[in-house]
Amino acid sequence: MSQLSLKGVSKYFGGLAAIQNLDFEVKEGEIRGLIGPNGAGKTTVFNVITGELSPNAGEILYAGRLLNGLKTHQVAKLGIVRTYQLVTLFSGYSALENILVGFHSESRFSLLDLILGGRRSRATDIAQLDKAMEILAFMGLSAFADAQAENLPHGLQRKLGVAIALAARAKVLLLDEPLTGMNPSEAQDMIETIRQIRKEYGTTIILVEHNLQAVMELCEKITVINFGQKIAEGEPGQIKRDEKVIEAYIGKNAHAT
Ligand SMILES: Nc1ncnc2c1ncn2[C@@H]1O[C@H](COP(=O)(O)OP(=O)(O)OP(=O)(O)O)[C@@H](O)[C@H]1O
Ligand SMILES: [Mg+2]
Repeated sequence: MSQLSLKGVSKYFGGLAAIQNLDFEVKEGEIRGLIGPNGAGKTTVFNVITGELSPNAGEILYAGRLLNGLKTHQVAKLGIVRTYQLVTLFSGYSALENILVGFHSESRFSLLDLILGGRRSRATDIAQLDKAMEILAFMGLSAFADAQAENLPHGLQRKLGVAIALAARAKVLLLDEPLTGMNPSEAQDMIETIRQIRKEYGTTIILVEHNLQAVMELCEKITVINFGQKIAEGEPGQIKRDEKVIEAYIGKNAHAT
């Protein structure tokens, strides 16, 4: 049975169909690739899942429950958490403080109170600190706990973004281009981290990424969209050989040159 499904989902921006009649089903614990050329609608798929945008048509179901109409924080509370194409951290705060914010992703501002010496009991603080340190250790970021987020190298900032999503108890993790701007060794490290997250926490992961080699390496199944419509779905080996997929990518390149 699917854990997350989109049935006939469409999203229009004026006359432009960013997603059109999209059916998309993901099983629990799967690592699914969602790929397609620039502007294909990938980020829009994430936006309608998380409630940042409401679809013009179709249903979005999570564990049998309709997500349509829920607010972003309500969706996050159910365990669907995303990272952004651009890094979004509390840059003036330490890595550890950023993780603490993740625990309260549905109420970020009250957490800032907590960080700034707010009203929570000391016992809660300590339990949360332990848990936050555990997540940092899992992500290989222990040594940077006290480092200010904005001073971390790009690769580690992106890792911290994923760590924050874990702190928010993600059951479904939506990763939007997690490898962007990474050098090959940072990228390899992130690929390994994504694998470890699924292994350790059983998290369902949907991966949007232009690094197709990484997608092929990580995902058991890949969905390809172009101009908002699904053009192919299957195992990496199938997708690599799919005529429509090849055409979508080559056609796009031909356009660019
Ligand atoms: N808020 C918006 N208002 C108007 N048009 C939008 C908006 N968001 C996205 N679009 C358009 O919808 C289409 C799909 O955009 P989307 O960002 O989902 O693509 P994408 O597959 O994530 O692309 P990329 O790989 O470049 O990140 C594009 O044509 C884009 O210009
Ligand atoms: Mg995008």
